[in-house]
Amino acid sequence: MSEISHSWLNELPKIELHVHLEGTLEPELMFELAKRNSIPLNFSGVNEVKEAYQFSNLQDFLDIYYQGAQVLLHEQDFYDLTWAYLLKCKEQNVLHVEPFFDPQTHTDRGVPFKVVINGISDALADAEERLGISSKLIMCFLRHLDETSAIETLKNSAEYTDYIYGVGLDSSEKGNPPEKFSNVFSAAKDMGYKLVAHAGEEGPASYIWRSLDILNIERIDHGIRAIDDPELMLRLINNQIPLTVCPLSNVKLKVFEEMASHTILEMLEQGVCVTVNSDDPSYFGGYMTENFVSLYDNLGLSKDQALRLVKNSIDASFAPKKRKKGLYSILDEFAAE
Ligand code: HPA
Ligand code: ZN
Repeated sequence: MSEISHSWLNELPKIELHVHLEGTLEPELMFELAKRNSIPLNFSGVNEVKEAYQFSNLQDFLDIYYQGAQVLLHEQDFYDLTWAYLLKCKEQNVLHVEPFFDPQTHTDRGVPFKVVINGISDALADAEERLGISSKLIMCFLRHLDETSAIETLKNSAEYTDYIYGVGLDSSEKGNPPEKFSNVFSAAKDMGYKLVAHAGEEGPASYIWRSLDILNIERIDHGIRAIDDPELMLRLINNQIPLTVCPLSNVKLKVFEEMASHTILEMLEQGVCVTVNSDDPSYFGGYMTENFVSLYDNLGLSKDQALRLVKNSIDASFAPKKRKKGLYSILDEFAAE
């Protein structure tokens, strides 16, 4: 008999380092908010929305994802979105999260930055107090927009540095290389933000090099294309630069044909600091537990590998030292049961 099971993977203490809050919008909440805010949707019901979630690449997904986000207008909407995700975390024993949000998706529609950040940060504060879930929030720039817009967004964030811990880069990767954002990342660093960026999801390994060398990022989101470049693999291993990998997302967006061909465990065994994350769980078929379960069902994830993946997430997180120590103890105690 296998030493682990689906329920063990649900109970496993977990850390999430790559999740877009807008990507946690479940169709049910999308309809509720559309009604509350009198926003027409292109879908007749929840089932039709779910059926539309078939994507052939990243752009296909992004087109639907930005549509969905239009139902978010008021502080309460952003609170409800974030809180629903955090309740899911509680259910799945996710103890620390570092979620992304995309302010430009909202400010471009006339929703003030303040409305977005207040709703999200109130929910994160309540989660810490009521659910025991700690967090560090990361603001992403949309890479399909120009750098001027990103700089404007960075300036908007200056009032909220108590609530925002880092900046990232997301949206359409191909044709929008890291160096397009060199000035804004340099300015963000000067403001004291931690730096991460999506790289090597659909784009080539060279985008990972350039994110490290030009943007000075500390952690790579996705990064799975690194496996094409042995020299880059050595750098990632030697410097223990973390990758926030999103298995179900990669299969949904056809980065891998099927889960059985995913390379995350191969990278883990080679010594890369890979971690498991959900990306846009409501669109990709699952939250943290479902991602671990899929690795177990399709790649034979072992107990030792599952524990190492979570340890990597603790190491890779921006949690303060004391919290990291606490998370290690919880994990060690769980592993010994
Ligand atoms: N890649 C790039 N941008 C995104 C993603 C992703 O997987 N999810 C939400 N925005
Ligand atoms: Zn992502």
